[in-house]
Amino acid sequence: MKILIKNIKELLQIRGAETIKVSGAEMAVLPKLENAWLLVEDNIIADFGTMEDVPQVNADTVIDATGKTVLPTWCDSHTHIVYAGNREQEFADRINGLSYEEIAARGGGILNSAKKLNETSEEELYEQSRVRLEEVMQLGSGAVEIKSGYGLTVEGEIKMLRVIKRLRENYPVAIKATFLGAHAFPSEFKEDHSGYIDLIINDMLPKIAEEKLADYIDAFCETGYFSVEETERIMQAGKEYGLHAKIHVNQFTAINGIEACVKHEALSVDHLEIVTDEDIEALKGTDTMPVALPTCSFFISIPYTPARKMIAAGLPIALATDFNPGTTPSGNMNLVVATACIKMKMTPEEAINAATLNGAYAMGLSATHGSITKGKRANLIITKPLSSYYQLPYAFGSNLIDSVIIEGNLI
Ligand code: NIG
Ligand code: FE
Repeated sequence: MKILIKNIKELLQIRGAETIKVSGAEMAVLPKLENAWLLVEDNIIADFGTMEDVPQVNADTVIDATGKTVLPTWCDSHTHIVYAGNREQEFADRINGLSYEEIAARGGGILNSAKKLNETSEEELYEQSRVRLEEVMQLGSGAVEIKSGYGLTVEGEIKMLRVIKRLRENYPVAIKATFLGAHAFPSEFKEDHSGYIDLIINDMLPKIAEEKLADYIDAFCETGYFSVEETERIMQAGKEYGLHAKIHVNQFTAINGIEACVKHEALSVDHLEIVTDEDIEALKGTDTMPVALPTCSFFISIPYTPARKMIAAGLPIALATDFNPGTTPSGNMNLVVATACIKMKMTPEEAINAATLNGAYAMGLSATHGSITKGKRANLIITKPLSSYYQLPYAFGSNLIDSVIIEGNLI
């Protein structure tokens, strides 16, 4: 199967295979070709160049992209799209004045979703989740990380991870699975934190490892959830099963969790709405990717990750949706990119780098995803005709995607 895309107005994010992430000032540069062509062979980017040298090939499909932009599909490195039902009532409660923390304290929040999930069959959970996955593919996401964490029981966590596995088998989008048993303490363990962590380590992890259900391990390191010491226990246990850490940290408070994550060589630290100078120091020169989730900040009205300060310090940033029923019921990476530009003052170049190559890095996929590179997966967004790619974040509420190609398939 060959697809030739020609007359591309702007072909964005062209990189050599050696560039696996971009940091600091490098983020301001988005390498591109104008008046370009790109050839897809099966599921791979076979070649590309400018229209002066367009090859004579017998393509099965020829796409004329006159006036259009082509870029790699979004790499959404942080989602919770496998969940049951919704939390619309809590949304209304927050409008009426309750905070996210107050709702959680009265048994809402994560525990509310866990109750719903444990009452939902695996089949029904799959059905609800696949609808969300299909939606985000249409919105241009070609690689997605999905977390467990609404089971909080051995059966519930395994049910979620099995659903993620089925999604991976049935859809062309690249999926990484993260085990987030340490998302909240179930009420029966409210006074017995080490009892629940023992359950995670001694009961959940061995079963998950045996069925090969997870690629990464996560914990919600936060005041009122998992302390830094508890998070370290989880990271250490994950490591023993070959699961690198991707940790929820610094969402509401800074408790020196980032330093601990770096010590444990976490692949990513995610949220970072509250970041101290010490946190930035801890991240400098490390392989840990900071991941910002601006539509979470938008939805629950909390501060935005201080991107300018972090980029000025030479750090990389990835952007992701956090798609979940409580804090971000949206998987729209286009809106994430726009919100990062508008509210975090990231430039369009920085935001697109953060949502493609750095997102791929944050889920261990930058060898195959996140840029226009010969030999990488043919995962492409073809936009509608645009005045320039600045229109993507500028016209923030519009759907500017014409078509999406994932693994060489037109979606
Ligand atoms: O990333 N902060 C922790 N976990 C999720 C929200 C969970 C929920 O409210 O259901 C998040 O924002
Ligand atoms: Fe999250």
